[in-house]
Amino acid sequence: MRMGADPTRQQESTIVGAIGTSVPHDSSQLHVTGGAIYTDDIVESQGLLHVAVGMSSRAHAKITNLDLDAVLAAPGVVAVMTADDIPGANNFGPVLDDDPILAPGLVEYIGQAVFAVAAETVDEARKAALLASIDYDDLEAIIDPREAIEKNSFVLPSETLERGDCRQAIGAAEHSLKGNVSLGGQDQFYLEGQIAMAEPAEDGDLVVYSSTQHPGEVQHRVAAAIGKQAKDVIVECRRMGGAFGGKESQPALIACIAGLMANKTGHACKLRLDRDVDMIMTGKRHDFIIGYEVGFDSNGRISGVDFMFASRCGMSADLSGAINDRTMFHCDNAYFLENVRIISHRCKTNTVSNTAFRGFGGPQGMFAIEYVIDDIARYLNKDVLEVRKCNFYGKTERNITHYQQKIKDNVIAEIVDDLVDTADYRQRVEEIREFNRGSAVLKRGIALTPVKFGISFTATHLNQAGALVHVYTDGTVHLNHGGTEMGQGLFTKVAQVVANELQIDIDRIKITASDTSKVPNASATAASAGSDLNGKAAQAAARKIRKRLIRFAAKHFSVAKSEVQFRNNEVHIGGANGEQRLAFAELVHLAWLARVSLSATGFYRTPKINYDRATFSGRPFFYFAYGAAVSEVIVDTLTGENRLLRVDILHDCGDSLNPAIDMGQIEGGFVQGAGWLTSEELCWSEAGELQTHAPSTYKIPACSDRPIDFRVRMLESNANPASTIYRSKAVGEPPLMLALSVFYAIRDAVSSVGEQRRIPRLQAPATPEAILNAVMEQQASR
Ligand code: MTE
Ligand code: HPA
Ligand code: MOS
Repeated sequence: MRMGADPTRQQESTIVGAIGTSVPHDSSQLHVTGGAIYTDDIVESQGLLHVAVGMSSRAHAKITNLDLDAVLAAPGVVAVMTADDIPGANNFGPVLDDDPILAPGLVEYIGQAVFAVAAETVDEARKAALLASIDYDDLEAIIDPREAIEKNSFVLPSETLERGDCRQAIGAAEHSLKGNVSLGGQDQFYLEGQIAMAEPAEDGDLVVYSSTQHPGEVQHRVAAAIGKQAKDVIVECRRMGGAFGGKESQPALIACIAGLMANKTGHACKLRLDRDVDMIMTGKRHDFIIGYEVGFDSNGRISGVDFMFASRCGMSADLSGAINDRTMFHCDNAYFLENVRIISHRCKTNTVSNTAFRGFGGPQGMFAIEYVIDDIARYLNKDVLEVRKCNFYGKTERNITHYQQKIKDNVIAEIVDDLVDTADYRQRVEEIREFNRGSAVLKRGIALTPVKFGISFTATHLNQAGALVHVYTDGTVHLNHGGTEMGQGLFTKVAQVVANELQIDIDRIKITASDTSKVPNASATAASAGSDLNGKAAQAAARKIRKRLIRFAAKHFSVAKSEVQFRNNEVHIGGANGEQRLAFAELVHLAWLARVSLSATGFYRTPKINYDRATFSGRPFFYFAYGAAVSEVIVDTLTGENRLLRVDILHDCGDSLNPAIDMGQIEGGFVQGAGWLTSEELCWSEAGELQTHAPSTYKIPACSDRPIDFRVRMLESNANPASTIYRSKAVGEPPLMLALSVFYAIRDAVSSVGEQRRIPRLQAPATPEAILNAVMEQQASR
């Protein structure tokens, strides 16, 4: 077991599932044997109907006529439904009421739900949905964010965050550069697509099984849609087959449609999107247009930077406000920006409403400053790492972010220095230069990029969590909390917390489905804060019960409370009469006989955070997670094809709760980020039709795309200075941004084509096509 610096960690614990041990994911066996029950595997009740959605074929139009006769007459069809049939609120938007469930006579993107049809089988429902006759009166459609800016088309007001006077600083600087770059979006491509099943209960109530990161929100939106209240709807989710942010807000659409149909027909109703529909109808990572102007000295130290961010939000606000805020917070990455202005446009386009995706706008901000740093180094013909280092935040000075948060936990220099050594960075830079001099077609490139990622929801009120723990008289435990499991191992980590607090083996704890009737008002499991929040809430609940048991045992055995200790599935009772041990279950049974309550709720709210959105200042983040990666690539300059040769990662998980799970998050996050920046490309036609909506045209990384040589390490003995659960650190999102190193390694390889004389204009994603374009520009400049 790894020893944590947190004294509350049980130092000699031998329980299965002790904190800091690599207990397997609680469902790992069920995952690989097919025994894990996902929403679509839940036994269907008698008379269940399958729902399909009729989608808009226009990006922006008035519906002048909607004829569903053929749909209703199709085989197996039981019911159809349009916006007019919604008894309650026709909205599933998480923040604003601008997301209609079914289009109310106006469509705003291709793929928008216009009507729903319920039939006896999936195939019947899906076939029937294609039979509608819809007449449109086309309106002007805006697809591109550039056009949105020109036409002042925004889902939310543009924001500006400013410190110092960047214009003055850039004007006075020794050197300056300006440029722009486009950065693509990304589909979440969870294995399990969006799905919900709604079952009618007594008196018009509904029980909804939803693949969602946010059961509480689904509960509220479904209740409002059917014209009822939160108390009338229960939402449950045992697990998701991946979510990656794509199930933070938009499962509400799927659940509302299933719920409305169940409400209308009195039958259980299930809506499961197939892959194409899922990709067309639900939102993705925001793509961006980024403009910048930077002033710097001859060392490459930035004196002023002026950023313009414009993201394609799609037809509604969804979570775009918080996402674009996070872009503004993270366009410093690990660098001190003394004079900075950030203008952020949240463009309204007639495309699907973009949403959360691992990193939540952070990766886009970090991409931008890394682009600027890379430009500076190439302009000055300096080592990029040296330019990075001279811009790093300091520990005692240059340590206040542009949003006025003082950074107290900065370990970026330690991580980077360690990685430079262990990855042989400097020697490999030389070898690569040498290789490239002798290689006309194949070019290698290398880059080391840092990550600093702020942990907490930026909306302060969301940083709260609840848990519910029952101990049964046989000493086994029922555990519930407001978090959801999407493969990230949250349920295992929280069970480890409870196992540790009660000092019992983890297999005595039943991990149960997220359920709005057990723990209410939970935030989405997001912002990487799942284990920070729910771990603490479950700890609080377990400690309440432990305290009651201690009080009882002290009285029962006539010893001091300090002489009752929980250890290794037993309770040790000290005292003058010598030590007595009894099994945990025995004590529990005795306590029950004495009528001690064995059930408790726990609550947690993140301390010390406070932040004023109006001024973009304060302390939005409880702490930061850090990491760095070195990537080396080889690029074929005739085709743009490339391979990831070697990746070295050093990542900070604080005192890891579960190193195996955290390693999985690091590796998975990195590979997912590499996909975003290299092979995953979303293309829209001029009419606004998504043309990449299946794995045939949208290429996520395969096993063969992982780095040939992949060396991942976690930072040793770095207990989180912030008092998180057992001093661990959130790990869900930060590693995705380690993949920035892949993009910049490719840019490094491309720049060697022009013998480093010209700054390559590589766009993201660096697909073979984008690489080839950049290579040809380099060649033209020779
Ligand atoms: N890991 C897996 N396997 N599947 C997922 O869907 N989502 C990521 C990350 N890791 C995800 C994942 C995202 S976007 C977030 S915010 C966190 O997990 C959420 O879980 P946590 O807060 O418990 O880390
Ligand atoms: N991250 C993820 N999801 C969120 C956030 C955030 O900062 N704020 C609101 N939803
Ligand atoms: Mo993660 S993007 O915060 O769901």
